[in-house]
Amino acid sequence: MKVGIDMGTTSEGTSASLDIEELLATRLLVQGNSGSGKSHLLRRLLEQSAPWVQQCIIDPEGDFVTLADKFGHVVIEGERTDTELIGIATRIRQHRVSCVLSLEGLDVEQQMRSAGVFLNAMFDADREYWYPVLVVVDEAQMFAPSVGGDVSEEIRKVSLGAMTNLMCRGRKRGLAGVIATQRLAKLAKNVAAEASNFLMGRTFLDIDMLRAADLLGMDRRTAEMFRDLKRGSFVALGPALSRRPLRVTIGSVETSARSMSPKLMPLPEAPQDVADLIFTPDPEEFTRPAIRRAAPQPRPASDILAELSRPRPEAAAPAEVKPAQPEISAAERDALINGLFAEIVANPEAAFRPDAELFQDFLVRCRIRRVPGPALYLSAFRRKMAVARSGVDAETAASEAWALALGLADRVTEDLQAVFLMLAHAALRGLPCPSDAMIARAYGTHSARRARRLLGYFEEQALIVVHADFSGRRIVAFPDLGRETAPGDASALDVGNSTCAAAE
Ligand SMILES: Nc1ncnc2c1ncn2[C@@H]1O[C@H](COP(=O)(O)OP(=O)(O)OP(=O)(O)O)[C@@H](O)[C@H]1O
Ligand SMILES: [Mg+2]
Repeated sequence: MKVGIDMGTTSEGTSASLDIEELLATRLLVQGNSGSGKSHLLRRLLEQSAPWVQQCIIDPEGDFVTLADKFGHVVIEGERTDTELIGIATRIRQHRVSCVLSLEGLDVEQQMRSAGVFLNAMFDADREYWYPVLVVVDEAQMFAPSVGGDVSEEIRKVSLGAMTNLMCRGRKRGLAGVIATQRLAKLAKNVAAEASNFLMGRTFLDIDMLRAADLLGMDRRTAEMFRDLKRGSFVALGPALSRRPLRVTIGSVETSARSMSPKLMPLPEAPQDVADLIFTPDPEEFTRPAIRRAAPQPRPASDILAELSRPRPEAAAPAEVKPAQPEISAAERDALINGLFAEIVANPEAAFRPDAELFQDFLVRCRIRRVPGPALYLSAFRRKMAVARSGVDAETAASEAWALALGLADRVTEDLQAVFLMLAHAALRGLPCPSDAMIARAYGTHSARRARRLLGYFEEQALIVVHADFSGRRIVAFPDLGRETAPGDASALDVGNSTCAAAE
């Protein structure tokens, strides 16, 4: 199917069309100095092609997260473990969902690591999921630098390897790289060389201009024209764009970038007491750490709630004031908290509520019961919730085998841990294998198909082996634990809110 998307207008006054199918096979390199309009160009390309092709954007500045509202891209915050990133990237390919990997606020090493791990997992997807995806990487020189910088050799290898895979070997696997860079001379040569389409924007430095001329097969004098390009104007060349160099002015976009070019604004009227204003410290400053902060990370409301509900340090509390909460031992506190988890899980509605909502419920319960000490963080809450949902009994929970199962659960993403632990618990106690409906509920869904997919996923990760007895009842074996569940009927109905243990 031939789909030409409209990138803007050519110098001849016609529409500048980009052939998406051709682009998938021949990739694109965008280069131009800071402010030349590369990110705007990528946004135009993404918006226009969103209805036609799955997209994945590696976004160092968190600029493209605004695509989510209008086009439904899933935003993935990059600050995650490798296992989580691999799981998400795999599912992105399976379910063909467009996404933005936002790396805003991470340091360069972390950005390179997250992008590298994510891209490699997309590259390693199973053959049956090799559907076409546009993979857009802004600031590509950061992920595929031409020379080693301050980052560790290991991180550089992961990131550069992923970019090389994307641009050199990605086509067969459905991955089409679209990369943008400020400085062509700083981008690894083999990564740049694999693009057959180019959009060259305003370029000042000779070294970048020479590289651009080489790539485009232009003589160096002709390449001088890149100096005079206006913001938003690019020279297009390549099978998906134009057979000869063509000047293109990129059209408008529907969504906005979060970072804007600085605009001049009138200064506020100077107050009379300007010296006072500057030299008088605000009392709060003394409690603020004197370090430079990275760009703020968006935090889930529930994390903020946890922080708010933590008791404040009693700064100047007079000695005679008794603590508001009774002193209790750590074991008593644990028992209180475990009781709260049991209460939450006992509510049949709880299985289908998002963790963030349950977390708020948990915090309120902590306050009502006057649980002393700091509240849990959301991540710790999720982990305990996974254990509670697994239905593990006290005796199994205290066993060494369970500790091993918890270790194995770390190899799957947080959202899958409850299902994994529920199966492990059934195996350790020799209970019948939970039915699809029970697995689905532990995952917070009503879909039996999804439950079966989860088993398939654990099996791919070599965590379990699914087999059946002679009458076709399902058995899940855990090679690492040396145990397996008893045979169970996969299509049995879920027995209400009861856990696996109660379903004996
Ligand atoms: N074709 C265009 N039409 C209208 N505005 C544009 C166009 N191209 C760029 N701009 C505006 O110019 C500013 C700079 O563009 P953009 O952020 O895309 O530059 P960039 O090349 O990505 O720069 P950097 O390398 O620093 O990220 C933005 O405010 C953008 O909205
Ligand atoms: Mg940019």
